[in-house]
Amino acid sequence: MSGEASPWRPEQYEKFRDERSAPFFDLLALVQACPGGRVVDLGCGTGELTRELHAKTQSAETVGIDSSETMLAKSDPFAGNGLRFERADIEAFAPERPFDVVFSNAALQWVNGHEELLQQVSGYVADDGQLAVQVPANDDHPSHVIAHQLAAEEPFRSALGGYVRDWPVRSPEWYAALLDRLGYRDQHVRLQVYGHHLESAEGVIEWVKGTLLTDYEKRMSPELWQEYLRQYREALLPRLIHDSRVTIHDSRFTIHDSNGPARPYFYAFKRILMWGRR
Ligand SMILES: C[S@@+](CC[C@H](N)C(=O)[O-])C[C@H]1O[C@@H](n2cnc3c(N)ncnc32)[C@H](O)[C@@H]1O
Repeated sequence: MSGEASPWRPEQYEKFRDERSAPFFDLLALVQACPGGRVVDLGCGTGELTRELHAKTQSAETVGIDSSETMLAKSDPFAGNGLRFERADIEAFAPERPFDVVFSNAALQWVNGHEELLQQVSGYVADDGQLAVQVPANDDHPSHVIAHQLAAEEPFRSALGGYVRDWPVRSPEWYAALLDRLGYRDQHVRLQVYGHHLESAEGVIEWVKGTLLTDYEKRMSPELWQEYLRQYREALLPRLIHDSRVTIHDSRFTIHDSNGPARPYFYAFKRILMWGRR
């Protein structure tokens, strides 16, 4: 994806800061320290979490790379003491020397062709090095399904030139087999469901506006984007409310009326965490 055209907005992304950082810390827990070593964080965002990675690994040098200028613009306060940030695209990134840890949290889902990608990335994992990746696996949730369905309908289809986002994320067992083929002798791969209590079903829209929908937003005029959001909301909310009605089994989850928002809304978000050591 192009950083220039990317509408990544740190304020929107960070609305769910605690929920989004939980998988980062779960992934970080799998990583072993490499005192004095070299670490890279692919798709580091603002760099705030890269600082945690740098501290945990005790590396001499950690570089966070990201293609978004707006995200990197926030990274200055976190740089220093061996931690730096560079604007680069993950697909084009070709370091001269290998890294002891190659880390990526919630970014590789933006790059297609995961077999080739993980092969490429593994090319710069050192002989005894580690690879640690977390990707969302929520493409079958209505918040994702409806986003793509709508993109395929007019007037959006013509405006997007027929573009519908590909979903490159595969199954946990597929990644486990790939890590094995790529020579990781130790590995840990798991699917984890993160349950988020959002204030209401509307919160799901705010959530995906900060991530998935940015890919459609950057390809539309501001007017068409507003129309897309209107139709997205109209299609998604009744579906979420319906689904939460059938799964209610706890008095904490109540629905005010049949057309009103589910409050709170339980957003079950699946993610794949993988770690391997050569
Ligand atoms: C969901 S954010 C995750 C940020 C950070 N890793 C975190 O855990 O908070 C995804 C990041 O990946 C970056 N990104 C997406 N595609 C990229 C690419 N091809 N090359 C570099 N960065 C990319 C985006 O700019 C964004 O900052």
